[in-house]
Amino acid sequence: MSGESTVEKVLNILKKNSGIYVSGDLLRKELSVSRTAIWKHIRQLKKMGYEIDSKPARGYRLISIPDTLTPLELKPLLKTSLIGSKIHYFRETDSTNDDAFRMARRGEKEGAVVIAEAQRKGKGRMGRRWESPPGVNLYLSVILRPKIPPSLTPQITLVAALSVHRAVQNVTGLEPEIKWPNDLLLSGKKFCGILTEMESEMDLVNFVIVGIGVNINMDTRVLPDDVRINATSLMEELGRPIDRGHFTSQLLKEFENYYLIFLKEGISSIIEQMCPYLKMIGKRVRVQFMDEKVDGIAEKLDLDGALILRKEDGSIEKILAGDVTILKE
Ligand code: BTN
Repeated sequence: MSGESTVEKVLNILKKNSGIYVSGDLLRKELSVSRTAIWKHIRQLKKMGYEIDSKPARGYRLISIPDTLTPLELKPLLKTSLIGSKIHYFRETDSTNDDAFRMARRGEKEGAVVIAEAQRKGKGRMGRRWESPPGVNLYLSVILRPKIPPSLTPQITLVAALSVHRAVQNVTGLEPEIKWPNDLLLSGKKFCGILTEMESEMDLVNFVIVGIGVNINMDTRVLPDDVRINATSLMEELGRPIDRGHFTSQLLKEFENYYLIFLKEGISSIIEQMCPYLKMIGKRVRVQFMDEKVDGIAEKLDLDGALILRKEDGSIEKILAGDVTILKE
């Protein structure tokens, strides 16, 4: 593959020969670099967590691959052309949404993603915190530059929600509930949250940042008690850990697919595909937004993604954003 760095090439040769020693001479000849350069790349890989055995007369043997989402591991798995065209990776950061926001302001292109293994100040909606322990979950932000009016930006959250749903279906066979507009649940507990932010002019979006947090292999016992009661992870629901790289590549593939559909045709077919997984439809719900509360029957999502609520007095209210709770009968 052109554009591959030497360290990527070294790693790929070791991976192809997994379990077998590859001589330094062979690496040197294949890559046309010096012995010292090979040695430096091996040292770099070891620093990144690759376990590599080196024996003087035999060469190098890859023993294990770290469970990380580095571009080195992720790039070969990607099946997209736009989303993930550039990957910015951090072992730890405050918030991938804040990083992506700054990068977008400096002109970073549509499709670039920011991924971190841990966040110090992971952001949830409405000023909440998103618990982001290291090395077990996915914390990802995508930079988009859709030519749409700012009022349509919330629809991109729905694009992301359906994409997460499909990725979970593909990888685990589970069928998560989509809790309009931002959350995904399994067994009634949240494992994914989406935070969409934007910068815009009066009538045109400059850029949108879609932040997606997915609890993948987290043992929820690490969470504070108040968060833990309503939280789960894919591992806990499935009873086994899943490959984070594979999940991430599926998510980016689904996201690219639905985002391109959204740009071409609008949101309506995406809404239709979401409907079977919206458990609140037909139920009595309470919608809360900031200090406002409104109760009623969740009738449907209309074709632009708003929630249609029939209030107790029979009138209809169209709701664009809020936290929905299903009320007990
Ligand atoms: C919510 O459910 O309130 C939204 C949670 C969004 C969390 C993700 S993790 C990646 C990105 N970076 C952040 O700081 N937040 C989002």
